[in-house]
Amino acid sequence: MTENSASEPKKNYALITGASSGIGQAFAKVLASKKKPLILIGRDEQKLKALSEELRSREGIDVRFLPIDLARSKELPLLPGKLQNMGITIDVLVNNAGFGKFGREEEVRYEDALNMVNLNCRALLALTKLFLPEMVRRHKGAIINVASTAGFAPWPDMATYAATKAFVISYSESLAEELKSTGVKIVCTCPGPVATAFQERAGMKVDLNEYKNYADPQTIVEETLGALKSNKTLVITGRSTGKTKWALRFLPRSLVSKII
Ligand SMILES: NC(=O)c1ccc[n+]([C@@H]2O[C@H](COP(=O)([O-])OP(=O)(O)OC[C@H]3O[C@@H](n4cnc5c(N)ncnc54)[C@H](OP(=O)(O)O)[C@@H]3O)[C@@H](O)[C@H]2O)c1
Repeated sequence: MTENSASEPKKNYALITGASSGIGQAFAKVLASKKKPLILIGRDEQKLKALSEELRSREGIDVRFLPIDLARSKELPLLPGKLQNMGITIDVLVNNAGFGKFGREEEVRYEDALNMVNLNCRALLALTKLFLPEMVRRHKGAIINVASTAGFAPWPDMATYAATKAFVISYSESLAEELKSTGVKIVCTCPGPVATAFQERAGMKVDLNEYKNYADPQTIVEETLGALKSNKTLVITGRSTGKTKWALRFLPRSLVSKII
């Protein structure tokens, strides 16, 4: 990454975490098609590099990538300063990176459980805290937090994952109230099942016929950006029917947990 001179005007970029695959990659493609310059974060350097090159040449925009393990990195606080030195301001933050692990709690590896909290909650909170103050100061910006329908109710065999997504929903809804009249918007998107690498990485057994009916990542992105535009804070995205949406939000949690 090259540094801009101090006199060069700062450019507004979208920063997307988990951009190397699935929903994050779809966010990158959709935002790039709207000519938004991008900073892509993930661990897989090769995939990030290939996607950056593809978007740069197809859309003619600036795309940069940073290979970072967000579950472990201790250097996140240095990121805003590093970007500022390059003349980059973040006005769209997409907190998308996340993973789950399927299994009874005593069987899920200690390290996996802690990394889930580190990535799904701690990194999302850290990036929000690092970029939000500048957005509020400029009265301009948007934060997109990717939660899940799993965040609305307990999910046996995905206990830690469901709890991390409940955190994302609660945190986003609180911030939405705080951010009213600041010029900064926040939307929390809660997809149902989406056809990505998520299920395999989680160690879930998925029926191929069921998988075919999962939403595609681009639909999630378009519905989320639509919700952001119409100032919605919380949106259930994907193939969930009206009845499912209603049940997830309003049925007793114990009942929803049994249905899941
Ligand atoms: N798919 C679903 O059914 C579904 C449903 C509801 C919500 N979600 C949520 O959607 C989000 C995106 O998941 P997805 O479905 O697109 O799954 P995915 O295809 O597995 O993508 C996950 C992304 O997160 C990145 N990531 C994982 N660990 C990371 C780490 N330690 N540091 C930095 N980046 C990391 C991965 O990149 P690297 O491998 O390069 O690190 C990848 O780009 C997650 O928050 C997930 O919980 C998914």
